[in-house]
Amino acid sequence: MPAQVLAFLNFKGGVGKTTSVVNLGAGLGYFKNKRVLVVDLDAQCNSTFWLLRPDHFAALEPTEFEGAGSARTSWQIFRDAVYGTSLFQPTQAIIRGVPRSEAGYELIPNLHLLPGSLDLIDVDFEADTKVVGRMRAALREALEPLRAHYDYILLDCPPHLHYVTQSALLAADHVVLPYNPDYLSLSGLYTLSQLLDRIDVVFAQQRAGQRRANIAAVVICRHQLVGRAYGTAIAELKSRLDLLRHHRLVHPQCALLEPYVRHDVSVAEAASEHLPVLLHRPNSNATIDYKLLSNAFVAHFNSLR
Ligand SMILES: Nc1ncnc2c1ncn2[C@@H]1O[C@H](COP(=O)(O)OP(=O)(O)O)[C@@H](O)[C@H]1O
Ligand SMILES: [Mg+2]
Repeated sequence: MPAQVLAFLNFKGGVGKTTSVVNLGAGLGYFKNKRVLVVDLDAQCNSTFWLLRPDHFAALEPTEFEGAGSARTSWQIFRDAVYGTSLFQPTQAIIRGVPRSEAGYELIPNLHLLPGSLDLIDVDFEADTKVVGRMRAALREALEPLRAHYDYILLDCPPHLHYVTQSALLAADHVVLPYNPDYLSLSGLYTLSQLLDRIDVVFAQQRAGQRRANIAAVVICRHQLVGRAYGTAIAELKSRLDLLRHHRLVHPQCALLEPYVRHDVSVAEAASEHLPVLLHRPNSNATIDYKLLSNAFVAHFNSLR
């Protein structure tokens, strides 16, 4: 069965998009033996930095030939759309078996990474109206031949709805919303679902019949059991999701997946070690939660096939 392409998206920065992509991706690969491709679409390159050692990342950046390095990143997909070239070569760009040990040993062989590039920041400025349509379609076209090789393709999106994110919405089958249960995030959820709805109008003008992905799952990334604010916010989130389902602003089977990943300092430590938390601290709360969440994730997305 071809891969499900899932865009991890939220307007807000710091809500756990990257953490979810990296650690769920690792959990699906390691615990569930799924073939997973992580695609870094954010100019901040956080999932790339997380999964690659600095020397490995540095090797991707341009060296003697200008652009020769960045051609091996997701940036080249959009660059090709802007300039009408076809320089993106997935077999050269995708790094198989990430992370790697210092000796180069593949620590999770079926977890692959298409790195991001700092140059992604320019993509939205380079697009004039003539190439916008090509840019929006570019990611879907680039991922199409890769679908046969994976179970999941996880897109780590930037925290905005510009062209790169729009292309992710057209490439993806579903949106996964990483969420921090606090009161202010609730209004963000409503705005996002409404904006996604409005974007449909823009897409409809561009590509007849092409629909964007909808929010099909919510994951909670930093659950804290102290205080009452979280409990209240989660109850509020659930009733808000019911309302959004009712108004068809999210997928009809949209679910809040459990367990919620607990706040755990080993997550932040793992990032600085360039390891998913399950390799950095196999017995941590976060590892236990990501293991169970991987089960729930597979069950949920199987039910949407
Ligand atoms: N379960 C957790 N426990 C503690 N810190 C976490 C947890 N999940 C995420 N974080 C931290 O939250 C911060 C923001 O997460 P990140 O995934 O980078 O968000 P985004 O990609 O949405 O900007 C990071 O510093 C990360 O280490
Ligand atoms: Mg991020």
